[in-house]
Amino acid sequence: MVCQCTLNFLGYSALALIAYRIFTAVYNVLFPYFIGAPLDLHKKAGAKWAVVTGATDGIGKAYATQLAKKKFNVYLISRTQSKLDETKKEIETAAPGVEVRTYAFDFGASTKAAYEPLIKELEKVEIGILVNNVGMSFEYPEVLHAQEGGLQRLADMTTINCLPPVLLSAVALKQMSERKAGIVINIASAAGYNEMSHWNVYSAGKRFVLHLSGILRAEYAGAGVTVQAIAPMLVATKMSKIKRASFFGPFADAFVAQALRTVGLVHETTGYFSHQIQAEIMNLLPQMVRDKIISNQTLAVRAAALRKKAKAQ
Ligand SMILES: NC(=O)c1ccc[n+]([C@@H]2O[C@H](COP(=O)([O-])OP(=O)(O)OC[C@H]3O[C@@H](n4cnc5c(N)ncnc54)[C@H](OP(=O)(O)O)[C@@H]3O)[C@@H](O)[C@H]2O)c1
Repeated sequence: MVCQCTLNFLGYSALALIAYRIFTAVYNVLFPYFIGAPLDLHKKAGAKWAVVTGATDGIGKAYATQLAKKKFNVYLISRTQSKLDETKKEIETAAPGVEVRTYAFDFGASTKAAYEPLIKELEKVEIGILVNNVGMSFEYPEVLHAQEGGLQRLADMTTINCLPPVLLSAVALKQMSERKAGIVINIASAAGYNEMSHWNVYSAGKRFVLHLSGILRAEYAGAGVTVQAIAPMLVATKMSKIKRASFFGPFADAFVAQALRTVGLVHETTGYFSHQIQAEIMNLLPQMVRDKIISNQTLAVRAAALRKKAKAQ
């Protein structure tokens, strides 16, 4: 027979657990985005250059521009030289006095030979901040074997989403740990928080980025280096195909303004307060309910995309 004091203990424990979960959720939304004082990025970085991948559009361009406005020299890496030239001009106008360099590189590459010239160039730069932002997504969710673009697309997506944070972090962390200062920001995705069916390689790749970030944080804990993982929900960019901003889907500039204020305050976050509210609510739900909500949303997106595709044919 269970005695009254055991029942009381279980009841109070359950209440304490619920209170703790709610307190953590509120803290995760309020502290990094509203309460914690933003840290001095120059002090944390310890060097003048910020290297940003995927820097000519969306989130990467916003990081590059805002870091330039904070008086970091910026090193832009992206695929298309004409877009790099245009972005360089825009940043030089927005942040007079900063130095902007560009390097055209296709992160679909995976060989040592392809990466070597880029790495040689980066080794000449004193990297204070590295933003591993470049990424690739699917046009619409689909089961693995039927993904548009077939095996080549799956290979490209795995490479582009996973390899740059490994190789570029290795280059940057070497000099950062010697200097005992530096910031690495890895742009993952909230897709990495759940095993999202039909987003297979994208979701798994972003999980890899989150996992890698945690491991690097532990490895360089004593080296004065900050490793932050950002896991956004929807941001209005070319990738998401969202043209109008909303409360839950901000433009990249608004998103990055908030994400940057969290550097050094929190190891891993979504990057935007309304995204954090969504993530915390999802976290409070049982896994089964969470999976059902995500799967219903995914199937609705897939059905709409297939309808649009059929209409276009
Ligand atoms: N937007 C969202 O809702 C969202 C949500 C969660 C996570 N994210 C993550 O945030 C990151 C940025 O996404 P975004 O929405 O800002 O993307 P975006 O607006 O489409 O911009 C992508 C940038 O990456 C460059 N790029 C693309 N493929 C490349 C390649 N193979 N080699 C070199 N550069 C390449 C593009 O330059 P070119 O045009 O020259 O190729 C462009 O500068 C990604 O890692 C993405 O997974 C985005």
